[in-house]
Amino acid sequence: MGVKYLAVSSGKGGVGKSVVAVNLAVAMARLGERVLLVDADLGLGAAAVLLGVDPPHTIQDLLRGQCGVDEAAFAGPEGLCLLASAADGQTDYWLRTDVLPDTVEALAGFESGFDFVIVDTGAGIPAATVDFVSAAADLILVVTPEPTAIADAYAALKVFLGAAAGLQPRLLVNMADSAAEAAELHRRFAELARRFLGVEIDNLGFIPLDRNVREASKRQVPLVCGVPAPPAAVAITRMASGLVAAGGDGIGSGLFARALAQRQAAWVSST
Ligand SMILES: Nc1ncnc2c1ncn2[C@@H]1O[C@H](COP(=O)(O)OP(=O)(O)O)[C@@H](O)[C@H]1O
Ligand SMILES: [Mg+2]
Repeated sequence: MGVKYLAVSSGKGGVGKSVVAVNLAVAMARLGERVLLVDADLGLGAAAVLLGVDPPHTIQDLLRGQCGVDEAAFAGPEGLCLLASAADGQTDYWLRTDVLPDTVEALAGFESGFDFVIVDTGAGIPAATVDFVSAAADLILVVTPEPTAIADAYAALKVFLGAAAGLQPRLLVNMADSAAEAAELHRRFAELARRFLGVEIDNLGFIPLDRNVREASKRQVPLVCGVPAPPAAVAITRMASGLVAAGGDGIGSGLFARALAQRQAAWVSST
């Protein structure tokens, strides 16, 4: 049985990808799943901050050969495992072609020990994000009910599908004012995707606009750990249960490691 990969992505930035990725990961871990959360917003990592942890190493250290996979993997809340990303905007680590082969092998083996690998990506369609999304094969596309977010999500989905025709997109409406607003947005987006991209979009549901989300980030406590659970946490926990119950066989393992290798090869050949 393979590992299930979920990439969390969007067209526009600031729509709540990191909040979704981090809290889905915590909620799934709480349900007893073995979860690896990969912060693949390379250079702008936010997952560690949202989890309220301070890992000594990052994916960038790993790619520079400054630590091993076991050192980079950090134990977070509910037993989830985090591969954090630096937030320093550096890119020099791609140049360490001598390091990567061993790292990819070790990381691929490490990934195989999980039920779910949740990959938080940066906004939009930089090449790295396209690689991570297409490797995952299962996409959680986050949109908010604003015209620009919807147009950008459609544009990003088109690019993702161009890179991975078999991609399974799921739409998640975040910061919705009501269930009706979210349902209408999903209906319109699904129709657009069906007509112009020839793809069926799953409806992953919605997360209400909830000021507790910002409060939780400020306090650096994962939203889903709040007691009593605020409305947004209830929604995310429900999604996590649905994704776990849906199960499925996963699609192999080592996909994130291989996407890193692919990205490095592209980087090296372009410089
Ligand atoms: N459901 C929500 N209700 C209210 N604020 C939210 C919600 N989801 C996210 N936010 C806020 O939106 C901002 C962007 O979230 P973040 O997860 O960093 O977005 P992204 O990763 O897409 O850039 C943060 O300040 C976060 O607290
Ligand atoms: Mg983010």
